[in-house]
Amino acid sequence: MVTEKGFHFQTHVIVLVFFLISSSLAPCSSSVAAIPFKQIYAFGDSYTDTGNTRTSTGPTAFNYVSNPPYGITYFHHSTNRYSDGRIVLDFVAEALSLPLSPPYRIPTADRAHGVNFAVAGATAIRHGFFLKNNITFNLVRESLQTQLVWFDKILESKGCRDLKTTPAQCKAIFGDALIWIGEIGANDYTCSLGSTISSDTIRTMALNSLSGFLQVLINKGAKYIVVQGLPPAGCLTYTFSLSSPEDRDEIGCVSTANLRAATHNKLLQIRLDGLRKQNPQAVILYADFYNSHLELVRNPRKYGFKQQFRACCGYGGGQYNFDVFNTCGAPSTGSCSDPPAYLNWDGAHLTEAANRVLADSFLNGTFCSPPFKYLLRRKLEEH
Ligand SMILES: *[C@@H]1O[C@H](CO)[C@@H](O)[C@H](O)[C@H]1NC(C)=O
Ligand SMILES: *[C@@H]1O[C@H](CO)[C@@H](O)[C@H](O)[C@H]1NC(C)=O
Repeated sequence: MVTEKGFHFQTHVIVLVFFLISSSLAPCSSSVAAIPFKQIYAFGDSYTDTGNTRTSTGPTAFNYVSNPPYGITYFHHSTNRYSDGRIVLDFVAEALSLPLSPPYRIPTADRAHGVNFAVAGATAIRHGFFLKNNITFNLVRESLQTQLVWFDKILESKGCRDLKTTPAQCKAIFGDALIWIGEIGANDYTCSLGSTISSDTIRTMALNSLSGFLQVLINKGAKYIVVQGLPPAGCLTYTFSLSSPEDRDEIGCVSTANLRAATHNKLLQIRLDGLRKQNPQAVILYADFYNSHLELVRNPRKYGFKQQFRACCGYGGGQYNFDVFNTCGAPSTGSCSDPPAYLNWDGAHLTEAANRVLADSFLNGTFCSPPFKYLLRRKLEEH
């Protein structure tokens, strides 16, 4: 049944692509490919990581990602994805008829269709900033900057420095490439909680880092870019254990954490507007992770979910099945019997079932601005 749903979802988008091709290119030659993109280059943290992290190298919380039951629903073994199955990026790749995005750290993987640089625990702000401020809790070395260094190695191997000095080489790489920037910044806030650094400082620095990163990519030739905002962290299981029981909003999520994410997202969208004005040749979409996830928390049953807060995978007790010292994958933990009935997988990350709905809502026009079909249309007009 899961596969069948996946099939319908994929068909839906392919039909959309066909429709766009036939409606925008008048005498439609039969040789026109139905696949609008040939590569996906992805960046981000654990929400987008398809295997760059390992239990031994990942963040200290949620550090059993290499163990079962991670992957149980779809891959039937751990692929070092923080889910019971596929993540949003996987559903995006499937919808575009592309193979699942290979992690950069597996150098033998086929890179013909792009690479995924996202790493669990990654921050938007460079690592050195946290070190300088004695913030080490749950921190990994890889930031957005690291991911750019990795991407640069690939670009340089293909002769692309930037659009000005090596236009042909860069156009060859970016002409058919979708750039997917998964959520980045949530870890910056989490790891600096309780430190002397204010969330205002984190917000400004994280947004500076992300917009600088985007401008660098655009200068290199990136044209089709999707940027995911922050999730409603206050609706994630682990946040409940970090907050006082009074700190709740009308749907039961942690108010302060959601307010922090919403403020960040509002300013992120202003930054994206600025980038659009400065770079009219690039198509920049905002994927509204926050409201897409919130829709599921508000109306779980409408999407087939029974539990919006309780984690599916955990130690087996309490109201939420979550213990920060005994997270999913630790020896005495296990999966619930019906993962598709849960939004939350391990306390911080979502189930495959939830990820599928999120991806659908980004691609079908509901939670992407401008809509994904606008990006497809712009892409088709180029050729
Ligand atoms: C970081 O910790 C070191 C050693 O404990 C201390 O000397 C230094 O002042 C601290 N720095 C900050 C910015 O708190
Ligand atoms: C888009 O996806 C969302 C989430 O799955 C769904 O609620 C909505 O009905 C879909 N809209 C269309 C136009 O298919």
